[in-house]
Amino acid sequence: MEAFGFGRLLLLFSLVVAVQSTCNSTDYGLVSKAFKSVSGFNISWLKSHDSNCSYPPIKVLNFGSKNLTGNVSWKFLRNMTQLHTIDLSNNSLQGSIPGWFWSLHTLVELNLSKNKFGGTIGFEPITSGNGSSSSMRVLNLSANRFTNLVKLSGFSKLQFLDLSHNDLGFLPSGFINLTNLEHLDISSCKILGSVKPISVLHSLKYLDLSNNSLNGTFPTDFPSVNSLKFLNISLNHFTGSVGFDKFQRFGKSAFIHGGNFVFNTSKKTPTNNHIKPHSFKSPTHKVFQKHLPLKTQHKKVHKPNSKTKALVIGLSCSSGFLLASLVFCIFCVYRRRKLARRNKWAISKPVQPNFKIEKSGPFSFETESGSSWVADIKEPTSAPVIMSSKPLMNLTFKDLIAATSHFGKESVLAEGRCGPLYRAILPGDLHVAIKVLEHARDVDHDDAVAIFEDLSRLKHPNLLPLAGYCIAGKEKLVLYEFMANGDLHRWLHELPTGAPNVEDWSTDTWENHNGAGSQTSSPEKTNWLTRHRIAVGVARGLAYLHHVGSCHGHLVASNILLSDNLEPRISDVGIRFIGCKKEENDVGNDIYCFGVVLMELLTGKQGTEENVKRVRKSVKEGNGVNVLDSRLRLGGESESEMVESLRVGYLCTAESPGKRPTMQQVLGLLKDIHPAVDFN
Ligand SMILES: *[C@@H]1O[C@H](CO)[C@@H](O)[C@H](O)[C@H]1NC(C)=O
Ligand SMILES: *[C@@H]1O[C@H](CO)[C@@H](O)[C@H](O)[C@H]1NC(C)=O
Ligand SMILES: *[C@@H]1O[C@H](CO)[C@@H](O)[C@H](O)[C@H]1NC(C)=O
Ligand SMILES: *[C@@H]1O[C@H](CO)[C@@H](O)[C@H](O)[C@H]1NC(C)=O
Ligand SMILES: *[C@@H]1O[C@H](CO)[C@@H](O)[C@H](O)[C@H]1NC(C)=O
Ligand SMILES: *[C@@H]1O[C@H](CO)[C@@H](O)[C@H](O)[C@H]1NC(C)=O
Ligand SMILES: *[C@@H]1O[C@H](CO)[C@@H](O)[C@H](O)[C@H]1NC(C)=O
Ligand SMILES: *[C@@H]1O[C@H](CO)[C@@H](O)[C@H](O)[C@H]1NC(C)=O
Ligand SMILES: *[C@@H]1O[C@H](CO)[C@@H](O)[C@H](O)[C@H]1NC(C)=O
Ligand SMILES: *[C@@H]1O[C@H](CO)[C@@H](O)[C@H](O)[C@H]1NC(C)=O
Ligand SMILES: *[C@@H]1O[C@H](CO)[C@@H](O)[C@H](O)[C@H]1NC(C)=O
Ligand SMILES: *[C@@H]1O[C@H](CO)[C@@H](O)[C@H](O)[C@H]1NC(C)=O
Repeated sequence: MEAFGFGRLLLLFSLVVAVQSTCNSTDYGLVSKAFKSVSGFNISWLKSHDSNCSYPPIKVLNFGSKNLTGNVSWKFLRNMTQLHTIDLSNNSLQGSIPGWFWSLHTLVELNLSKNKFGGTIGFEPITSGNGSSSSMRVLNLSANRFTNLVKLSGFSKLQFLDLSHNDLGFLPSGFINLTNLEHLDISSCKILGSVKPISVLHSLKYLDLSNNSLNGTFPTDFPSVNSLKFLNISLNHFTGSVGFDKFQRFGKSAFIHGGNFVFNTSKKTPTNNHIKPHSFKSPTHKVFQKHLPLKTQHKKVHKPNSKTKALVIGLSCSSGFLLASLVFCIFCVYRRRKLARRNKWAISKPVQPNFKIEKSGPFSFETESGSSWVADIKEPTSAPVIMSSKPLMNLTFKDLIAATSHFGKESVLAEGRCGPLYRAILPGDLHVAIKVLEHARDVDHDDAVAIFEDLSRLKHPNLLPLAGYCIAGKEKLVLYEFMANGDLHRWLHELPTGAPNVEDWSTDTWENHNGAGSQTSSPEKTNWLTRHRIAVGVARGLAYLHHVGSCHGHLVASNILLSDNLEPRISDVGIRFIGCKKEENDVGNDIYCFGVVLMELLTGKQGTEENVKRVRKSVKEGNGVNVLDSRLRLGGESESEMVESLRVGYLCTAESPGKRPTMQQVLGLLKDIHPAVDFN
C-alpha cells in the first residue's frame, strides 16, 4: 500500500518533470520569422542537440559575418524568453532598432557592428514590462549609420559601449546615468561641441574620442584621467595642458592633432633630475670625443670574474686601445653619479614598519592572513634588492612596492614580452625601470641568482646593464637604469623631426623637445652621422655579445634604448633565457635582425618583412638611393655612405644564414664607411 502510493507519487513526479522539460519550438519559429526578410539566412545554423529535446530555448544568436542583407523584424524577438546575446556583426543588415527592444530584460550583449543599421537609439520601457532601464551591458554599434539623438539615460547597466564610425554629429545624451560604463568608444562620429558631458563617467577605464570635432579643456572637462588605462583624444579641437606623466602613460599618439595643447615641461617629482655626464651642444661624434675625460683609466669600477675580464680585454684589444678608454670613461662617469647618489641615500631611506598592501598590478598582496605568494616571504623587507653597482644600498622588495605605488597601473611603462615594465624612483634618487619576469615564476631560486649574476657581469657601453635584481618568493624582478630618450623605434618612427637646428639641442631632452610648447621633436634625426653612430654602437654591442658566446634572440628597434647623448644601449639581453619563451637561439638570426634595424635607420621605414623585401630589391637593382629616408639631408658624399651602409643591411639579411657576415665583420664594414666614428 505504502509502496504503491510511493510509486504513484514517483510517476506523478516524473510526469511533471517531463512536462516541464517539454521542448519548446517556439523560439525557432520566432527566429525564423524575425529573419524572414533577411536574405542569406539559414535556420539550420541554429543547431539542435539532444535527441528528444531538440528545441531548448535560444540564448544566443550568433550570425556574425554571414553575408546577410535586408531587414530584421525585431518584434518577433520580443517573445523570446532567454535571449542573452545577439551577434549580427559584419553583415549588410539595415533598418532601425525600435525603442522597446532595449528593454528586453534578458538581453545583455548586442553586437551590430559593421552593418547598415540607422536611425536613433533610445530606451523605451515596455508598457507592461519590467523596470525603467535596459539590461544591456555590452553594446557594439560601431560602423553603422546611426544618426544623432542617441539617448543613453536608460542604459544604466552598460559597461562597454562602442558607437564609433557612425554619423552622430552630436554627443549622445544621458551619460550621467551610465554609472557602470568602463569602455567608451565614440571615435570617428563627426561630433561637434563640448566634451564636458562625458566628465561624469567615473568608472571609465577606456576612452576613445579620436577623430571628431570636440572642444573643451584637457584634463578638467574629462573624466578622471588617473583611472584611465587607455586614452585617445587625437584629431579634435581641445585645449589645455598635458603633463609629463600623462604623455608618458598614454603615448604621443593619444594627443596627436588633438588641438592646442601645452605640453607641460615642469616636473613635479625630483625624478627626472638626470645627472648629465657631459653637456653636448651637437650630437656629432667630434664633440662627443672632445668631452671625454681621458685621464681616468686608473679607477677600477667593477670586479668582473676572470673569464669576463679576459673577454673584455680580448674585445678591447680587438677594438683598439681607445675603445677601452671609452669603456673606462663611461664607468668613471657612473662612479661619479653613484657617489653623488649614495650621499643622498643615507638620509632618504624611508622606513615604514607597518605598511598596507593591496591588490594591484600583477601581484596580489596581503599583509597578515596570507593567501597569496607574498605569504611565502612574510615580510617584503626580507627580500633584498641586489644592486650590482651599489652593493651598499640596503634596498628591499618593500622599496620597490613603494616606488611603483604597489605596482600600480600608473607606473607601467610598457607591457613587455616577458612581463610588465615599471618605472620607479628608488631612494637615493635612482631612476630605474623594473621588469617583472612573469614567465620565470618556476625558475629555481639559485638558478635565477646564477643567471642574474652572470648578466650583471656582462658589461659593455652598448648593452643596457642589469642594474640589479630582486627575488621575492616566486617572483623575479630585474632593474635597469631608466633611459630618458626612449627607444630607437620611437625616435625613428614617432618623434617628429623638428627644425634641424642642432645648436638649440642641449642637455635635457624632455624639456628641450617640448620647449616650443607643442610637440616633441628630434632635429638630430636628420643627421646621417647620428644614425651611423647608432648603427655602429648597436653593431658593437652585438659583436661583443657574440664574442662572449651569447646572443640576443630578439633584436628589434624597440629593444634599442638611447642614452642622453643618443648612444644606443641594447636591452633585454639574456632575459629570454629566464623562463620567457625561447626565440631562435642563433647568432645568424641576430645578424639578420641587425640588418633589419640598419635598414630602418637608413630608410626611416619600419622593418616589416615587406619593407625588407623592397629594400633588398632596390639594392640588388642598384637603386638603393631611392629608398633612403628623405628626412636625411641627402646628396654629396654622405649619400654614397648611406648607399654603402644599405648594402651592409642587404648582406645581413641574406636568405641563407651562411651567407651573412659576422657581426665583427659588419662592425668593420660600417666603420670603414665612416671611419671618424671610431672615436680615434
Ligand atoms: C516555451 O515558450 C513559451 C513562449 O515562448 C514560454 O512561455 C515557455 O516558458 C517556454 N517553455 C519552456 C519550458 O521554456
Ligand atoms: C542551410 O544549411 C544546410 C546545411 O548547413 C543546407 O543543407 C541547406 O541547403 C541550407 N539551406 C539553404 C536555403 O541554403
Ligand atoms: C524520443 O524518445 C522516444 C521515446 O521516448 C523514442 O522512441 C524516440 O526514438 C526518440 N527520438 C529520437 C529522435 O531520439
Ligand atoms: C566580414 O565578412 C566578410 C564576408 O562577408 C569576410 O570576408 C570578412 O573576413 C569578415 N570580417 C571580419 C572582421 O570578420
Ligand atoms: C554575399 O551575398 C550576395 C548576394 O546577396 C552575393 O552576390 C555575394 O557573392 C555574397 N558574398 C559572399 C562573400 O559570400
Ligand atoms: C508575444 O506573446 C504575446 C502573449 O504572450 C502575444 O500576444 C503576442 O502576439 C506575441 N508576439 C509575437 C510577435 O509573437
Ligand atoms: C528595410 O527597411 C527600410 C526602412 O527601414 C526600408 O526602406 C526598406 O525598403 C526595407 N527593406 C526591405 C527589403 O524590406
Ligand atoms: C561582437 O561582440 C561580441 C560580444 O558582444 C564579441 O564576442 C564578438 O567578438 C564581436 N564580434 C566582432 C566581430 O567584433
Ligand atoms: C523582471 O526582471 C526580472 C529580472 O531582472 C525577471 O526575473 C522578471 O521575469 C522580469 N519580469 C517581467 C514581467 O519581465
Ligand atoms: C566592436 O566591433 C568592432 C568590429 O567588429 C571591433 O573592432 C571592436 O573591437 C568592437 N568593440 C568592442 C568594445 O568590442
Ligand atoms: C538619470 O539620472 C538622473 C540624475 O541622476 C535621474 O534624475 C534620472 O531619473 C535618471 N534617468 C534614468 C532613466 O535612470
Ligand atoms: C565648442 O564648439 C561648439 C560648436 O562648434 C561652439 O558653439 C562652442 O562655442 C565651442 N566652445 C568652445 C569653448 O570653443
